[in-house]
Amino acid sequence: MKKNYSIWTFETFLRFVVLFVGFFVLCKGQQEEEDSTSVAAMKKEEQEALYSAIQGFVGDSWNGSDLYPDPCGWTPIQGVSCDLYDGFWYVTALSIGPAYDNSLRCTGRAELTPHIFMLKHLRTLSFFNCFFSPRQNPARIPTSNWENFSNSLESLEFRSNPGLIGTIPNTIGYLKNLRSLVMLENGLTGDLPPEIGNLVKLRRLVLAGNGFAGRIPETLGDLIELLILDLSRNKLSGSLPLFFGNLSSLLKLDLSNNMLKGELPIEIGSLRNLTLLDLGSNKFSGGLAQSIQEMVSLKEMVISNNPIGGDLNGIQWEKLEELEFLDLSNMGLTGRIPESMTELKRLRFLGLNNNNLSGKLSPRLASLPCITSLYVYGNNLTGELEFSEWFYRKMGKRFGAWDNPNMCLQAALMSGKGNFLYGVKPCKQETSISDGVPNAKMSEGSWNQNSPLVASLGGSSCGFDGFWWGLLLYIIMLL
Ligand SMILES: *[C@@H]1O[C@H](CO)[C@@H](O)[C@H](O)[C@H]1NC(C)=O
Ligand SMILES: *[C@@H]1O[C@H](CO)[C@@H](O)[C@H](O)[C@H]1NC(C)=O
Ligand SMILES: *[C@@H]1O[C@H](CO)[C@@H](O)[C@H](O)[C@H]1NC(C)=O
Ligand SMILES: *[C@@H]1O[C@H](CO)[C@@H](O)[C@H](O)[C@H]1NC(C)=O
Ligand SMILES: *[C@@H]1O[C@H](CO)[C@@H](O)[C@H](O)[C@H]1NC(C)=O
Ligand SMILES: *[C@@H]1O[C@H](CO)[C@@H](O)[C@H](O)[C@H]1NC(C)=O
Repeated sequence: MKKNYSIWTFETFLRFVVLFVGFFVLCKGQQEEEDSTSVAAMKKEEQEALYSAIQGFVGDSWNGSDLYPDPCGWTPIQGVSCDLYDGFWYVTALSIGPAYDNSLRCTGRAELTPHIFMLKHLRTLSFFNCFFSPRQNPARIPTSNWENFSNSLESLEFRSNPGLIGTIPNTIGYLKNLRSLVMLENGLTGDLPPEIGNLVKLRRLVLAGNGFAGRIPETLGDLIELLILDLSRNKLSGSLPLFFGNLSSLLKLDLSNNMLKGELPIEIGSLRNLTLLDLGSNKFSGGLAQSIQEMVSLKEMVISNNPIGGDLNGIQWEKLEELEFLDLSNMGLTGRIPESMTELKRLRFLGLNNNNLSGKLSPRLASLPCITSLYVYGNNLTGELEFSEWFYRKMGKRFGAWDNPNMCLQAALMSGKGNFLYGVKPCKQETSISDGVPNAKMSEGSWNQNSPLVASLGGSSCGFDGFWWGLLLYIIMLL
């Protein structure tokens, strides 16, 4: 079952490659297609609209009818795809920007002309690196004509266009068929229009890396098919709306690097399918909601750089069996590091640094099979560090324990090859100096061979690749 699914997706991916990448492949495919559809033509108005729309981006010197007399046939244009409707060719995809060597590229005077809105079967529209400069050539998202796309457009994408400024017009709400809306790293500002909530088929909403401000609109709670929601790196404020609990299909939720405040709502625990939660670098407070233990699919949780406060002991960490990456640094946390964290068998990264945690560091953390990074520096941990020399050497700089004034290391471990554990002082009560026998068995040479081996074995058995491959499949699926 699972295998069939991934083969199917791979075929889709291949088809994608065939459509967009190779000129050679394109030519070949076109010839095969011509046998069956050799009589198909393109309406003149569709063809003119395509040429004019492209000229708006690449400049008037681009002569479409001269260079590409048959854009859906034997002279395909990179970034343009077509499909047959009632025996005529129509443009279904238009992507502008330097994705490939022979892609259409914008000039410094690029503009979004209304001709685009005459392409009535357009399903995918994307602009990558097209509007370069907010000073020399500021561009805005058109406010009118989006209703022309209300039944057709499935994917709208603006990526890396610093010259694209202004707000998202509320007319975006006409695009009722949209599956994917990506406005990533542009110069957009202002409030998010509540009309985004009309796009009820959305599976991916990415508005990261702009200057959006104001509150997260309540209407986003209507987007119950969302899989990916990324509003990170903006200036959004206000509290986390309660509706997040209703978006139960979500796989990825990234709200990091905004100015969101208030408590984490209990409802967040309903996101049982969530694999990535990033709330880092906001102003959340009021302690960690106990319900985060219900997000049992989480592989990555980042809540660092928030004045959350409180302690970690009210949460049954062992329930988060899939967790691989946990960053809770700089959160004003107090109390002890709960023993239940040592049950997170898939954990690779644990960041607890820059808090006010106290007590001893459990030696069981060293036996986490996948752990490759462990940061506890800048706390008030006490007592003797009880990990083995093997552990310190395996971790190297990825174990950070400095700035815990009341924590110390066995003097025996300090005497050997010197300062492999930066910033931790030797324990005073240590009386006898090591006779060197344990060290003799483990020469420097055997260590250099062993550590990478251990690390790579750990990597493969901990299955990190599967996660990203899974995400990739989802993204391909959305296309
Ligand atoms: C484009 O090329 C065609 C055919 O070569 C020519 O007739 C037409 O005048 C050209 N248009 C422009 C704007 O140069
Ligand atoms: C929008 O669609 C209508 C009907 O298909 C068409 O007449 C009109 O020209 C389109 N608008 C633009 C700006 O192309
Ligand atoms: C969540 O969904 C339920 C049922 O669809 C609805 O009654 C409720 O108002 C929603 N809650 C929020 C906060 O949107
Ligand atoms: C969560 O994921 C499972 C397995 O992939 C799926 O069957 C289920 O429908 C998902 N739940 C929601 C609410 O989407
Ligand atoms: C850490 O906790 C102690 C005792 O709970 C408190 O006195 C101290 O101010 C805290 N330090 C910081 C930096 O929060
Ligand atoms: C660190 O912990 C000790 C007790 O273990 C306490 O006396 C001291 O105030 C704490 N220091 C800070 C800065 O919280």
